[in-house]
Amino acid sequence: MRLYLDSADRDDLAPLLDTGLFTGVTTNPLILQRGGVRLAQVPELVRWLLDRGTAEVFVQTTGSEVDDLVAEAHELRRLSDRLVVKIPATVAGLSATRRLADQDVPVLVTAVYHAQQAITAAAAGARWIAPYLGRMTEQGRDGHGQIAQMQQILAGTGTEVLAASLRAADDVRRLALAGVAAVTVGAPVARALLAEPLTDAAVADFDRAVAALV
Ligand code: E4P
Repeated sequence: MRLYLDSADRDDLAPLLDTGLFTGVTTNPLILQRGGVRLAQVPELVRWLLDRGTAEVFVQTTGSEVDDLVAEAHELRRLSDRLVVKIPATVAGLSATRRLADQDVPVLVTAVYHAQQAITAAAAGARWIAPYLGRMTEQGRDGHGQIAQMQQILAGTGTEVLAASLRAADDVRRLALAGVAAVTVGAPVARALLAEPLTDAAVADFDRAVAALV
């Protein structure tokens, strides 16, 4: 499973990226806001991420009309060919995704809440879809069940699930078991994923044994 970080906060990102375990970073306007990054500062953030060896950086469009979305996507891609454009799964967003896919621009269709949107995103030629697991669950939907259906719908297409809006490390385990190949997690979930107190206790035992052996 490929792991991505869902954050624009450099203090959170730096130590997690340094582990080498995370393939890339995903952002959206809310994440930029939380990270204190203004739109004009996005190119600088992207350069900072790429300079740290981040393989893929996902940046979301802000427009709402098809032509604007397509133009914005091309503008973002000028920053790097390692940048993937995120576009919300609105009608205009799907239409822009179709045009961009025809121009070989990879798009992640985001804010996906229902399995049927996997069908339309694949028809639009999306490279990825980002189902919002936590938000689906908070709305009373069976988030894990919807994502399992998306996996089935997308099998054999060129569109992949990159699950987002995860609330717990255990979501990552459940998604991996469901065959999801990529997830993006905020810093708290990423840190929880790396934490295992029993491993730390075992290492403390080893250290005590090593001290007694010298
Ligand atoms: C990722 O790209 C999504 O935008 C994000 O995970 C949404 O998460 P939230 O539900 O915590 O806002």
